[in-house]
Amino acid sequence: MSERIFICTAWPYANGPLHLGQIAGAYLPPDIFARYHRSKGNEVLMVSGSDQHGTPITIKAEQEGKQPAEIAARYHQQFLESWQRLGISYDLFTTTGTANHAEVTQDIFLTLFKKGYIYRHTVSQPYCPQCHRFLPDRYIGGDCPFCNSPGARGDQCEACGKPLNPVELVNPRCRLCGTTPVFKDSEHFFLKLSAFNDQLLDWIKKQTHWRPNVLNFSTRYLEDGLKDRAITRDLNWGIEIPIEGYADKRIYVWFEAVIGYLSAAIEWAKSSGNPEKWRDFWQDSKVKSYYFIGKDNIPFHTLIWPAILLGYGHDLNLPYDVPANEFLTIEGRKLSTSGNWAVWLLDYLDRYDPDPLRYLLSINMPETGDTDFSWREFVRRNNDELVATYGNLVHRVLTFTYRNYDGAVPAVGEYDRQDRALVKTARETMETVDKLLYGCHFKQAITEAMGLAHEANRYLDDKAPWKAIKENRSDAAKSLYVTMEIICHLKTMLYPFLPFSSQKLHELLGFEGKVEDQGWQAEPPPPGQKLPEPQPLFSKLDDSLVEEETKRLGKAHGS
Ligand code: MF3
Ligand code: ZN
Repeated sequence: MSERIFICTAWPYANGPLHLGQIAGAYLPPDIFARYHRSKGNEVLMVSGSDQHGTPITIKAEQEGKQPAEIAARYHQQFLESWQRLGISYDLFTTTGTANHAEVTQDIFLTLFKKGYIYRHTVSQPYCPQCHRFLPDRYIGGDCPFCNSPGARGDQCEACGKPLNPVELVNPRCRLCGTTPVFKDSEHFFLKLSAFNDQLLDWIKKQTHWRPNVLNFSTRYLEDGLKDRAITRDLNWGIEIPIEGYADKRIYVWFEAVIGYLSAAIEWAKSSGNPEKWRDFWQDSKVKSYYFIGKDNIPFHTLIWPAILLGYGHDLNLPYDVPANEFLTIEGRKLSTSGNWAVWLLDYLDRYDPDPLRYLLSINMPETGDTDFSWREFVRRNNDELVATYGNLVHRVLTFTYRNYDGAVPAVGEYDRQDRALVKTARETMETVDKLLYGCHFKQAITEAMGLAHEANRYLDDKAPWKAIKENRSDAAKSLYVTMEIICHLKTMLYPFLPFSSQKLHELLGFEGKVEDQGWQAEPPPPGQKLPEPQPLFSKLDDSLVEEETKRLGKAHGS
């Protein structure tokens, strides 16, 4: 029975290029998941967009002497190019700058206001006497009151991940000029999170299928008790407050960005020609919705967004799962965008193919703990695993078949015990991988699939058709055919991870059309099927790139 799956990914701030930490954390996993479900024949909607508002964008704009809209548009274009080149297959990647998003946000704001879940409250806000302005969120820095680490910002501590209010910062400073701020009264709107604490706690306790880190983090929060939070800011960039008298204030970026999951589905439905279709993914309680994010985004997706949904009503589905990933370190060090200790995705794609990166980030995915990216490992895994194991298996079978059996799939006799045992292993592996992918265990899934490639290589070495052909052509043909059948399993299982190579392999096996459209199956090519001239699936990388690439780290970034 086919299922409907709603896949959401964190909305990246449109204030800079994407780096590998974001890809491993929040963008590759949902793409693997979406491709898997599509190939299973399930109906998938995968949405996200650029997060264009808030102080991350205005600070960048001020640094460059540009308008925030220009910054947002520039990086939105880059994101679209990145998805296309890395093969991240969104059904819609929009922005928070659309009229539709503002409408949906303002409707939710007003509804919550009318229900009393949003209320007005005057608070004392940091104000820089030197810059003559209020200092919301990233404009103010200081020490974290929870973990004491320096460099916490007014909205969140990067070190411990806790959301903050500016007043809570220890040793506060204006991040523009370093002045100690004074506090001035300002009227704001607050979201009554405290009203949802018990309801959320009951709900969270039932989410036993969540990853332990996500579950524990969220539960701890609720046990401490959620505090009401200001959801407007003294800023002039963002969505306007739909109530008169607040022209110099805007809705807080985090309140509206999460609403993007709903507004994007609505936008997608409108452009599909059936404007009501978003309801299929939002109001049918059988639909499972997944939110792929980095661990620093957990509370916004497991607490604040569910609270907004509960308050709004209309029977909208709460998240089914929030498979948050941990962080990716680079060459053993914490990634830092300001220090350029990062690998930028578009730089990578200018120099290398997408699948080797997708492979490394999948087999080394920071699912249950931080993992490290190193160029040495990149080269090693490419050369030893993609080229020497998987690629070589395919290439040996296809070149030998092509040369010795007139460029076509040979006729095949009855499978012997060893043949049947291997095919059985392949079927079992495919079932295991199916279950693992369904449960978002990507690292284990790809490891299992690669295990099968190893086994198929051993089988082929053992059968040695290149020797057997001298005595018995049909025996040699059979072991080639059996290996082709295993390769067809690999093509399907690895498709979610390595879409470009699986498509290429599909064609090298003489099939037409898209590999995804043939579904989650492993039919071997029919005897007689013409094979095109074999091409290697992957290319070997030179060791020298390790030093060359490592040297770029920490240096000023060109683009
Ligand atoms: N822009 C945020 C970040 O990059 C993520 C926003 S996720 C959303 O950390 F759900 F709020 F959109
Ligand atoms: Zn200042």
